[in-house]
Amino acid sequence: MILVTTAGKVGSETARLLRERDVPVRVLVRDPAKAAARALAAAGAEIATGDLDLPASIDEAMSGISGVVLVSPAVPAQELSVVASAAKAGVGHVVKATSKAPADSPIARRRWQAEIEAGLADSGIPHTLLRSNAYMQNVLALAPAIAATSSFGSSAGQGRSGLVDARDVAAVAAEIITSPAAQAERTYWLTGPELVSNYDVAAVLSKLLGRTVSYRELTFAENKDEMIRAGIPEQIAEMNAQAFSLTADGDAEWVTQHVPSLLGRPARSFEQFAVDYAATFS
Ligand SMILES: NC(=O)c1ccc[n+]([C@@H]2O[C@H](COP(=O)([O-])OP(=O)(O)OC[C@H]3O[C@@H](n4cnc5c(N)ncnc54)[C@H](OP(=O)(O)O)[C@@H]3O)[C@@H](O)[C@H]2O)c1
Repeated sequence: MILVTTAGKVGSETARLLRERDVPVRVLVRDPAKAAARALAAAGAEIATGDLDLPASIDEAMSGISGVVLVSPAVPAQELSVVASAAKAGVGHVVKATSKAPADSPIARRRWQAEIEAGLADSGIPHTLLRSNAYMQNVLALAPAIAATSSFGSSAGQGRSGLVDARDVAAVAAEIITSPAAQAERTYWLTGPELVSNYDVAAVLSKLLGRTVSYRELTFAENKDEMIRAGIPEQIAEMNAQAFSLTADGDAEWVTQHVPSLLGRPARSFEQFAVDYAATFS
C-alpha cells in the first residue's frame, strides 16, 4: 500500500494514476469532503483523515505502508513528521516532491525544502527527490485576472522557465514509487519540453481564447501587492514574488529530458496544458 500526502495538485493525480494501475493507495487529507478526496475515494483510494500538524494522525495513516509519496506545502515540521513516522514504520521508499533548494536561498520555502531533504537523508530511508521547475498549474491562479482584464502581471520580466505540468510530476512519482528498486538516492530535475516566458504564456492564451491577453511586467513590490489583493497570504505572496524576480534573472532557465526518459513519452507542452485547462480560462 502506498501513502500519498496530500490530495493537492500532484498528490491527487499521483493517487489517481496509482489506482489506474490497480495499486492500493491511501491518501492523507484533512477534509474528506473536498472534491479531490471524493473523486479519489470513487477511484478506489483509501482516504485517511489526518493533519500533517498532528503526528498521531500521520502514524495512523502509515500503518501497512510500503512506500510514501511526500508532497505538501513543504513546512519542515510537517514533512519531517512524515519522515519520522515512515522510518518508525519501516517504509521501504519515499518519493519527495521538491524544487531547486539551496540551503542559503533567499526564498524561505527553498530553505525549508533543503531542511526537509537533509532530514530525509538522515533518516536512512531509501528515497528519490523530484526537483521540479515551476508548475504550469501556477498559471491557473491568474485565470480570474485574465477573465476580468485580459491581462496578467508578474515580476518575472522577460525571464523564461522550463515550466512542467504537475500531472507529469505526478506521473513520475507514480512510476518511481511502484518500481523503486533502482531509484534510491537519485534526484531528478523535472521540466516541460521547452523554455516559456510570460510573453509566450500570453501568446498561447490569446490564441486559445481568440482575444488578446497581454502581459504586464511588474516590480517585486507591485507583484507581491497584487497577489495579496488577490487573497494570497502575505508570506506566500512574498516567496512567490521572490521566485518570479529570480526567474527574471534566469534562475528557472533550465530544461531536462528526465520526464521523457522516465515515462517513455514526451513531457506535456504549455500549449497542450492550456488546451486541457481551456475551461478554466474561458
Ligand atoms: N508550484 C510550483 O511551481 C512548484 C514547483 C516545484 C516544486 N513545488 C513543490 O510542490 C509541493 C506542493 O505540491 P502541490 O502544488 O501539488 O500542492 P498543492 O496543490 O498546493 O496542495 C497542497 C495540499 O496540502 C494540503 N495540506 C496543507 N496543509 C495540510 C495539513 N496541515 N495537513 C494535511 N494536508 C494539508 C492541502 O489541503 P487543503 O486543500 O485542505 O488546504 C492541499 O491539498 C511543494 O513541496 C512545493 O514546493 C511546487
